[in-house]
Amino acid sequence: MKQYAWNKGMAMLMAWLWLVVTPMFAQDTILRNGQLWPDTEGHHINAHGGNILEFDDVYYWYGEQRPDRGYTMDGGIAVYSSTDLQHWKNEGLALQLSAEPGSDIERGCIMERPKVIWNEKTQRFVMLFHLELKGRGYEAARVGFAVSERPTGPFRFIRSTRLHAGRWPFDMTEKDIEAAKQTDAAAWHQWWTPQWMSEVQKGMYLWRDFEGGQMSRDMTVFVDDDGRAYHITSSQENLTLLVSELTDDFLDFTGKYNMVAPGGQNEAPCIFRRGEDYWLICSGCTGWAPNEARMFHAKSIWGPWTQLPSPFTGIATGYREMPANKTFGAQGTYIFKKDTTYIFMADIWNPRHLARSLHLWLPIQFDDEGVPVIPWTTELP
Ligand code: DGJ
Repeated sequence: MKQYAWNKGMAMLMAWLWLVVTPMFAQDTILRNGQLWPDTEGHHINAHGGNILEFDDVYYWYGEQRPDRGYTMDGGIAVYSSTDLQHWKNEGLALQLSAEPGSDIERGCIMERPKVIWNEKTQRFVMLFHLELKGRGYEAARVGFAVSERPTGPFRFIRSTRLHAGRWPFDMTEKDIEAAKQTDAAAWHQWWTPQWMSEVQKGMYLWRDFEGGQMSRDMTVFVDDDGRAYHITSSQENLTLLVSELTDDFLDFTGKYNMVAPGGQNEAPCIFRRGEDYWLICSGCTGWAPNEARMFHAKSIWGPWTQLPSPFTGIATGYREMPANKTFGAQGTYIFKKDTTYIFMADIWNPRHLARSLHLWLPIQFDDEGVPVIPWTTELP
């Protein structure tokens, strides 16, 4: 009983410190990796798994607004604005959950990894995000689309869908398709055997989901120099990445897609282009726990992609020691450009209190051969 009262007291004190004291000291804090990042009202920025969009000299930061406890959504997708990447004003919810029972985005669904891009042709802001339907854990594995005339919203939810029902990747030959059709996912109960991996690489889960549409969980979007946009997602039970071309208005898929690293189990894709080089940095698949990042290089968005060692070097200090082979305790969410610097943006997840997950922004350096290197630093660029 005594222990219970003490625990309760401690919990109340922690909540009070979080809600009252943090804002009081936070007004003019310089944002540093490894610490809480207060917004202009002093509250830790609650925008996770998101991205930064620069528009008319203002940076907009979109992300999951997480409740303090639990994994499902009770608000929607948050947006903050800044002119210097240091002082962030909370602009409220860019996309709100629907009050309509049965809506794809009703309270209790899961929205993750929202990304907003600007469509020059339609003069609209387009948001894509990972959506899980209420009460179904992570099995729906859909992508959601929303659109807005203004960067801060309100975004209008359009629909959610799985990907490419009834379509094969554009680069699969007739022979590859025949081999995929011979696979049978229902026959494999044990994962990670060499035989199972060989079936996965032939497209076993692609074939299983062929009619109903491919799964889409962790995702990002990328606008290439010619204005074409692509959706990159963790599909096939998180085993294989799919790269898919979006239509001119960014609100649908053209149907052209291919697979990257089948069986590689890559999550949290982040991509950027520097000159003629495309770089894709992903995590492994260990839930909220950190793991070693993976990096891929290609000369075209359609590959072929070559895997290289993780770009992270050194050890994180200043909040807790975390080595480069754990991505400094973080998982990537986006890579954006400030002037000429590419910035890797990540979350240091706190699964007990997702809202309190820390943010990590690291400038990307390049070695003599132009390969990305990402050392630890507490200072933001
Ligand atoms: C890792 C993903 O990257 C996150 O976005 C989230 O889906 C967690 N898994 C859930 O366990």
